[in-house]
Amino acid sequence: MTKYRLQIFTSVEELARYFTAELSATIAASGNGQYVSVVLSGGSTPRAVFEYMAKNNTGTHWPTVRIFWGDERCVDPHHPDSNYNMAHESLLSPVQLPASNIFRIQGEAEPSVEAQRYADIVMQELPHHNQTPQFDLVMLGLGEDGHTASLFPGYMDLLRSKNLFEATEHPESGQRRITATLKLINNARKVVFLVTGESKAVMVERILNRKKDWKQLPAAMVKPAYGELIWLMDEKAASRL
Ligand code: 6PG
Repeated sequence: MTKYRLQIFTSVEELARYFTAELSATIAASGNGQYVSVVLSGGSTPRAVFEYMAKNNTGTHWPTVRIFWGDERCVDPHHPDSNYNMAHESLLSPVQLPASNIFRIQGEAEPSVEAQRYADIVMQELPHHNQTPQFDLVMLGLGEDGHTASLFPGYMDLLRSKNLFEATEHPESGQRRITATLKLINNARKVVFLVTGESKAVMVERILNRKKDWKQLPAAMVKPAYGELIWLMDEKAASRL
């Protein structure tokens, strides 16, 4: 298992406070006037963190932050399932992030066409490392099945993709998705998992303690080759460690 930093919190608010400080440190380290590219995730823990950040919007210098997504559901941007809609409502609108800083995955478009369009945008907007666009910070959630972004177990060919984004679908609901690939995620300077709740404890243990087919779990394949891996979780999610 790649070296990682693990922080365990008694509450989601404490976790959110730590993540906000991590983001501010990333911005501060980026040098004057440089943009910081941040990839947002969907999910209930990311939403709680966004709501905290919007309520406690003091130190973050938002104009230098450019926002991208690690995955999106193939729905309209105002659909309740949309990751963009969730982030816009809970964070981007409250902190008044300029529209020019927001790079939305167009969930309403044809998935495979949009996966390519968005990959082209990321190619042109980000600095490259190792011939691959390099994000400053990638935020990820963890599904109970070990998925992250929209990389689900059982789609092993997707995990080997040489593309930056792929069209896929949720294995149970069939909902079409667009997701960043491991090639892109593992090229980031910093990858942060945000995980809370008892329901994730088994999966957290399987991944961090390399148990029972852990190599089949997409979240366990997140190993930034040139960056830092950070796991932020509450005591419930960490209860089996
Ligand atoms: C999504 C997310 C997904 C999410 C996990 C955890 O689009 O749903 O990208 O990877 O982060 O499913 O979600 P919860 O925090 O809601 O369990």
